[in-house]
Amino acid sequence: MKDIELKTKIRECTLTDLSEMDRHLVSRAKEATTRAYAPFSKYQVGAALLLDNGKIVEGSNQENAAYPSGTCAERTAAFYASSANPGVAFKKLAIAAWMDPGEGKDREEGFQKAPVSPCGGCRQALLEYEHLYGDVEVILYGSDKIYILDSIKALLPLAFTDF
Ligand code: THU
Repeated sequence: MKDIELKTKIRECTLTDLSEMDRHLVSRAKEATTRAYAPFSKYQVGAALLLDNGKIVEGSNQENAAYPSGTCAERTAAFYASSANPGVAFKKLAIAAWMDPGEGKDREEGFQKAPVSPCGGCRQALLEYEHLYGDVEVILYGSDKIYILDSIKALLPLAFTDF
């Protein structure tokens, strides 16, 4: 019997450490939160995907009264990107989440302070595109700190990949 240890490298930084492109991608993810349809959770998530052809595709969570029928921001962005640009690689993904901070508060205060991390289902869905096209860098935005990972795989070790 032996133990196997899995390592994940996460780069922690703040907005000022990011390249201009990465800052732009984060701002597009933040902007995408405004287009969420989240009347049930009130938790508005935005995702921005940079494609290999230079396009940025945004997605937001779209909820449904039949709860499981809704989709997360990340999957909305990935499925929309792939259906509108079949065969084009995903290069980077930025994610942000916002909740109404209440009356009199600045909109910026509504952004989640800790980096927002995609759910397991989204990791699995995104991983499939990564297998097709190569590594997708992930930028998890939080207003206190940002996490950057080199790939989706780094978010989902021991993923289901073959059938
Ligand atoms: N949600 C996302 O859009 N992305 C995530 O990574 C986590 C959760 C959505 C699903 C649901 O509409 C709301 O956030 C609350 O879970």
